[in-house]
Amino acid sequence: MAEENQNIAALMVEERQYPPDPEFTAQANAKPGFYEQDPDAFWEKEGRDRLSWFTDFTTLKEWDRPYARWYLGGKLNACYNCVDRHVENGLGDKVAYHWEGEPVGDKLTITYADLQSRVVRAANGFKSLGIGKGTKVAVYMGMIPEAPVTLLALARIGAPFTFVFGGFSANALGSRMAEMECEYLVTQDAANRRGKAGPLKPVADQAMDMAPTVKTCVTVRRTGTEVELKEGRDRWWHDVVDGQDDDPASCPCEPMDSEDMFFLMFSSGTTGKPKGIVHSTAGYLAGVSTTHYYVFDIKPDTVYWCAADIGWITGHSYIVFGPLVNATTSVMYEGTPDFPDKDRWWDIIERYQVNVLYTAPTSIRTHMKWGDQYAARHDLSSLKVLGSVGEPINPEAWVWYREHIGGGKAPVVDTWWQTENGMILVTPLPGITTLKPGSATRAFPGVQAAVYDESGREIPPGEGAGYMVVKEPWPAMFRGLYNDDQRFKDTYWSTFPDAYLAGDGARVDEDGDFWLMGRIDDVMNVSGHRLSTIEIESALVNHPDVAQAAVVSRSDATTGQAIVAYVTLKDGARGTTEKLAELREHVGTMIGPIAKPANVVFAAELPMTRSGKIMRRLLKDVAENRALGDTTTLADPTVVEEIKARAEAGKED
Ligand code: PRX
Repeated sequence: MAEENQNIAALMVEERQYPPDPEFTAQANAKPGFYEQDPDAFWEKEGRDRLSWFTDFTTLKEWDRPYARWYLGGKLNACYNCVDRHVENGLGDKVAYHWEGEPVGDKLTITYADLQSRVVRAANGFKSLGIGKGTKVAVYMGMIPEAPVTLLALARIGAPFTFVFGGFSANALGSRMAEMECEYLVTQDAANRRGKAGPLKPVADQAMDMAPTVKTCVTVRRTGTEVELKEGRDRWWHDVVDGQDDDPASCPCEPMDSEDMFFLMFSSGTTGKPKGIVHSTAGYLAGVSTTHYYVFDIKPDTVYWCAADIGWITGHSYIVFGPLVNATTSVMYEGTPDFPDKDRWWDIIERYQVNVLYTAPTSIRTHMKWGDQYAARHDLSSLKVLGSVGEPINPEAWVWYREHIGGGKAPVVDTWWQTENGMILVTPLPGITTLKPGSATRAFPGVQAAVYDESGREIPPGEGAGYMVVKEPWPAMFRGLYNDDQRFKDTYWSTFPDAYLAGDGARVDEDGDFWLMGRIDDVMNVSGHRLSTIEIESALVNHPDVAQAAVVSRSDATTGQAIVAYVTLKDGARGTTEKLAELREHVGTMIGPIAKPANVVFAAELPMTRSGKIMRRLLKDVAENRALGDTTTLADPTVVEEIKARAEAGKED
């Protein structure tokens, strides 16, 4: 790894620096001295000031590695913190969401009072179906108002949930529901996507066949697409929810323990089986709301837009829970950035006078590719802070973002974190941090991030690359992997005796700033989403014609990494264009469109070591079009040359 990382480091020498603008500093939420605070005192104060407790906590944290518990003894409710207390405090008329549907002109302004009434009706509706404290519920939806309403209503009742991204397949949804043993599913007929209705309920129907624990499914009518309703199982949202009482007293917020499981978020790991990442209630809420407030410099009148999907952790933490705890006004947009035209985002920003935009490098690069002219059509001068998350941002995209979207002025905060982390861990603080394009800069106050070498020694600033670790627990840290404690320990806590292993390569430069360098395990990062190579290989081998498959990633100008699959067909069959399309579709059906390989290379044989392991490193060299690395342990060295020739030929087609 050392050699590889040095190469990356050498490529990433970046000299540009952007000190904070004094005008911004003067009004920033994070004041000078912010980094000097005592971590425990900081989290104790934030926990008290930012959240409302039914019963105050008595102990800040307990750390029995790898098990952390925070805000012990406290009782609270997430929905109360996100909605009810704001209405009680006179903020009922404040806008919670400017919701914008994909069809032009389809808009809804949802105030905190509206949100409360929607949530209470939904919660009463869910209760009428038998959902109560501890009932496990799956949610499979697009970006419609009912999505946050559903999560808040479940939080109100104390029902743990798993929200599965609407782009995932029936297989992915079914296996997640089965793993969590969900009893209920909330979905919608179809989702608007680039002017078309993408079916969700039909996918959910197939998924429910795989998850027999699901007894009831509630479906929101969004597009009007015809769907099948199964007698005794399926109910329309409007039948269940619309006639319900919306008086908050009719459905009080359930007092939950700080450490009660709040939700599960499934994420890819190095094996084919997705990991059920467990998040707690109080620590999670404290972590996401505190980081949201300081990293995005949120003021009472800020209009904030996180352009992710609620189905990913970014959406949970920074579209729903973080912003709502802080009583923020958010924009929420249903569709794609190029509908009806490629300036849709910039049009939204101009119309709602958005102050903060939080998105992923892959989106920034897509906009760059489309050209500056789309942003130039709009007045984006309301933007004050720009955020990035999901993968390392290349300096070119960072500078483009600041220049063309941020008017050459807005600080770009490159935020590093993971589904497991729950909250942003490494990030600049606008107004304090000198920015460097491509660097996530500093650990958030109270977070003890470091880079270790193989032997577990901390690598000092300026002395090269190693493994990204976190030495102390943080409030929003995951509490484990659902029903898989061994995997929790093996994956994250067994490499080093005293730190959490993030699975990313990183270095700290002479000034103490972090530079994240991508995954060091068999996990790829495509458009800011983690996908496991093994999961895609399993999907390919599941196809009746495939004998063997090896999946690697190559770099891609837009998506960061792209998936390359090497496939050997059964009985020596030769690959065809039709087979290629069929295999891509197959992976799409098994996992979701996001996992479809960008390239499929058919090979008579895959390069194996003498002990029978596929040599992915060599395949990666071919995929990246690099000179081949060491092949001496290869059983049949001609195999790679042949694959290389085929990959080259494929390029010429
Ligand atoms: O490799 C890192 C990359 O995304 C991984 C986490 O993916 P996921 O759990 O899906 O969460 C994405 C959204 C929080 C990390 O292990 N990553 C995320 N943000 C950055 C990043 N890599 C570099 N810089 C970032 N800012």
